[in-house]
Amino acid sequence: MKNFISVQDVNNINALVVKALAYKANPFADKTLGTGKRIGLIFLNPSLRTRLSTQVAASNLGLESIVFNVDKEGWAMEFEDGAIMSGHTVEHVKDAAPILGNYFDILCIRAFPSLQNKADDYSEEVMNSFMKYAGVPVVSLESATLHPLQSLTDIITISEHLKEKKQSKPKIVLTWAPHIKPLPQCVPNSTAQWINAWGEADFVITHPEDYELDEQFTKGAIITHNQQEALKDADFVYVKNWSTFNDYGRIYTNDPGWMLTMDKLKLTNSAKVMHCLPVRRNVELSDEVLDSANSIVTQQAANRVWAAQVVLSEILKES
Ligand code: CP
Repeated sequence: MKNFISVQDVNNINALVVKALAYKANPFADKTLGTGKRIGLIFLNPSLRTRLSTQVAASNLGLESIVFNVDKEGWAMEFEDGAIMSGHTVEHVKDAAPILGNYFDILCIRAFPSLQNKADDYSEEVMNSFMKYAGVPVVSLESATLHPLQSLTDIITISEHLKEKKQSKPKIVLTWAPHIKPLPQCVPNSTAQWINAWGEADFVITHPEDYELDEQFTKGAIITHNQQEALKDADFVYVKNWSTFNDYGRIYTNDPGWMLTMDKLKLTNSAKVMHCLPVRRNVELSDEVLDSANSIVTQQAANRVWAAQVVLSEILKES
């Protein structure tokens, strides 16, 4: 593995899942793999899980990790090629990325979308600039359009449950949920991209009208505006809000009727409930669901370590 930006950087998802679960069983199996090497975790946006799980994963591999919250502590960065930097930006990525590439053996970047300009966000300018100029492998800690470490984690978590139940071909439902502000499409895009590429589930996406996602990620899934119909016999329900894609970055509805409740869960095959977190309780998901035995959000978040560890180890083995 050279970079980890999307599912396209992975040859065999199931093989990666097996290796991740081997790390879960034996976290220090490769404790010297990263000895003498260093990763930089560069955050243009906040994080709890991604930051700490990647640091724990690095530590398990003997890698040193340094976190830089560039949004709060660094110079305002410019990404536009040919920009006349007479405004608020101070340092061009062309200058910063090669320096970071000298300091670190692997560069991990979190950079959310602006939600102002779809073309800019969907061009993945920030992630592509770091890949172009850093000269070292780049790992996405969530980009403008995708969150691959989250999606690998989610397939690891689903696989654990399938193994326990000796089940195959689950029904996975990705359902839109209400939220108070416009959120990126990264997680639902990535969920759709990975589950479609995995190919081992009946996959249904349900959302209100006008919340369609980019077809490049959803193609292959069944898409319906009828949440109750979608939930029937589901084995896993993945709950997530996203803002509109077509008329970009807006909230058209905040209908609380889309919140998942225990009553709606009765339609499912006693489905496990997933969310990437952070979650706004009683807006996106009710307390009764989050605190029920159906919720596997803590297991999901805990598994972030093994996803990060397997990705870092694959990159170290190739470098
Ligand atoms: N799920 C997720 O990426 O969490 P953080 O934003 O806290 O890293």
